Amino acid sequence: MKNIVILISGRGSNMEAIVEACARERWPAKVAAVVSNKADAGGLRFAADRGIATAVLDHKGFASREDFDAELAKVIDGFEPDLVVLAGFMRILTAGFVRHYEGRLLNIHPSLLPSFAGLHTHRRAIDEGCKVAGATVHFVTPELDHGPIVAQAVVPVLPTDTEQDLSARVLVQEHQIYPRAVRWFVEGLLSVDAQGRVTHTGGQAQAVLAPSSDA
Ligand code: GAR
Repeated sequence: MKNIVILISGRGSNMEAIVEACARERWPAKVAAVVSNKADAGGLRFAADRGIATAVLDHKGFASREDFDAELAKVIDGFEPDLVVLAGFMRILTAGFVRHYEGRLLNIHPSLLPSFAGLHTHRRAIDEGCKVAGATVHFVTPELDHGPIVAQAVVPVLPTDTEQDLSARVLVQEHQIYPRAVRWFVEGLLSVDAQGRVTHTGGQAQAVLAPSSDA
């Protein structure tokens, strides 16, 4: 049984999707804890209602990023994680923290990486006239929003899209690919080659193409 620790900063809908898929599909894993840097993160209530341990560590109480990340790692390690999942955890992580969890730290980013690392991904995709957008699950490396790509989902960008429309369409797909990618990890089905390319050892496709009728 693998232990998963999920980090959130807000709503936590990806965390919910992972918790639910883990239970429904009987993964060989359990969500041991949900940790937030914000006491008012909406997802904390969901986790507590499910009997999952929760912890809050407010970054504002720390003098430096290094101090916060060191304490955060202590909290996380108390739950003996095999995998740490960033699910809308809106903090830039120090290289030391990332190295500590190397190979067992996943993130979801709402763009087709390597395009649109950073913030405001949907607005930037619309402004660039992109015809498709999407989301990426990747292993975390010290470089922001980079690292070996595990899975991606692609959605159309429609001519009338607002940032909110596109964000909502992408989020539906995030809830498909993130649980799938986490399941692959806990089942030991992911392999990363020397160049940082990830494959599913059972040969499963790692991209989802959402038809425009999903819009
Ligand atoms: C998701 O769209 C996720 O991709 C994004 O924050 C949202 C969190 O939603 N993450 C990032 O932008 C990280 N760079 P959620 O709290 O409902 O899962």
